[in-house]
Amino acid sequence: MRYSVLGGGKRVRPLLVYAAGQALGADEAALDAAACAVECVHAYSLIHDDLPAMDDDALRRGKPTCHKAFGEAAAILAGDALQTLAFQILAHAAMGELSAERRVQMIELLARAAGSRGMAGGQALDLAAIGSDLDIAQLEDMHIHKTGALIRASVLLGALCARDLPEAAYGALDHYGKYIGLAFQVQDDILDVTGSTEELGKRAGADRALNKPTYPALLGLNGARQRAGELHQAALDSIAGLDQHAEPLRWLSEYIVARGA
Ligand code: IPE
Ligand code: IPE
Ligand code: MG
Ligand code: MG
Ligand code: MG
Repeated sequence: MRYSVLGGGKRVRPLLVYAAGQALGADEAALDAAACAVECVHAYSLIHDDLPAMDDDALRRGKPTCHKAFGEAAAILAGDALQTLAFQILAHAAMGELSAERRVQMIELLARAAGSRGMAGGQALDLAAIGSDLDIAQLEDMHIHKTGALIRASVLLGALCARDLPEAAYGALDHYGKYIGLAFQVQDDILDVTGSTEELGKRAGADRALNKPTYPALLGLNGARQRAGELHQAALDSIAGLDQHAEPLRWLSEYIVARGA
């Protein structure tokens, strides 16, 4: 568990928790718990994503994947236990003045985002799609779930840490999270084609090798880049009404589509 959760990674989801919290003046103590919880779910999803029964990858975050380092059984259990640790943190960690009701809302939000209608469901769509010709709407649906759901939840978890939570701001952040969540996987697909294994810290070209439907496969590289740019712009438009405290959210949206790893 320590190997996979503490061993590198960009920490984009925790950064989104903090940035969304900052945009709404949230209590930092509560943000720490939400940030740790979402990264635990993410690390678990990566461990299981790399297993031989899923993407069968040997390299993650520049190191052997969890199952390569510790064996398959230990990797499955490490993933299971990281997932429950996330909910333990949300249920137990200090959260400043945040109400118990808000804490339950956060637990429900993360559970939904990780579950059959979120990440896990999206992963099932991904595995079912291998070798088949998805249209763009089906591909988008898969990406929104397998990757988008947890990213969107990261933004909303940050928002839920704010004691004063105007409905309009929450709605704006929800739209922002939906756009950047999809943009994140579009860029992940692009990097699988354009990046090197060394830069990415995971095997480049893995999608083509596994015959996975991706944005570059469907739209071409330029089409995929254009789509990522549109999603970034839509994310910015969604939070146009927020003040300068939302600037880190704007930078993160830019980073998500411009990153090289
Ligand atoms: C990789 O996520 C898996 C996807 C959901 C595309 P990241 O690119 O955020 O991986 P780390 O956390 O930086 O290693
Ligand atoms: C992963 O998508 C989505 C997850 C829920 C982990 P990918 O399979 O494209 O992620 P990478 O490229 O292996 O990081
Ligand atoms: Mg995968
Ligand atoms: Mg994978
Ligand atoms: Mg990928």
